[in-house]
Amino acid sequence: MRKRKRSHLIWTAAFLLVTQAACDAKTGDVREWTPSDHDQPARPGAQVSARPAGEGFDPGLVDLAWQRNCFTCHGARGRGDGPQGPMVRAPDLTDPAWQGRVTDAQIAETIRKGRNQMPAFDLPDQVIEGLVQRVRASRAP
Ligand code: HEC
Repeated sequence: MRKRKRSHLIWTAAFLLVTQAACDAKTGDVREWTPSDHDQPARPGAQVSARPAGEGFDPGLVDLAWQRNCFTCHGARGRGDGPQGPMVRAPDLTDPAWQGRVTDAQIAETIRKGRNQMPAFDLPDQVIEGLVQRVRASRAP
């Protein structure tokens, strides 16, 4: 008799624990989305261009695009000092003389179509525009 009552209590407790856990899992899912949710470490193979341009554009994508597509040759700031920079002779994009000669449209065109050792990049317009701004912001004094 006593034994039976105890096992009933245990089952009730177990049931409460399970439903409690289920509730926790649910409320954990409905937090608000923030841009930082996208700032995950770069995963090899993830496609920057997979996301359509326009809807909810995330500026973090520009950094991601630079890291993934440009860094190997142009380096972190664009000085041409990435791991492959010397091999392909990547130019110094911070050079004020070059920056003064080139237009935003020409920079965008080079990114889209490539040039000599530099491959073409099929990226959404807003990412290309962001990359152009990034190159501009790196201009040396
Ligand atoms: C495989 C190496 C490589 C990668 C990757 C690369 N570039 Fe280049 N880039 C070069 C080389 C080499 C040149 C010089 C091309 C030439 O004029 O002969 C260049 C030139 C440029 C220029 C200057 C063009 C001009 O007007 O003289 C810009 C701007 C540029 N790259 C931006 C980018 C951006 C942005 C990315 C990433 C989306 C990128 N590059 C990826 C190698 C690379």
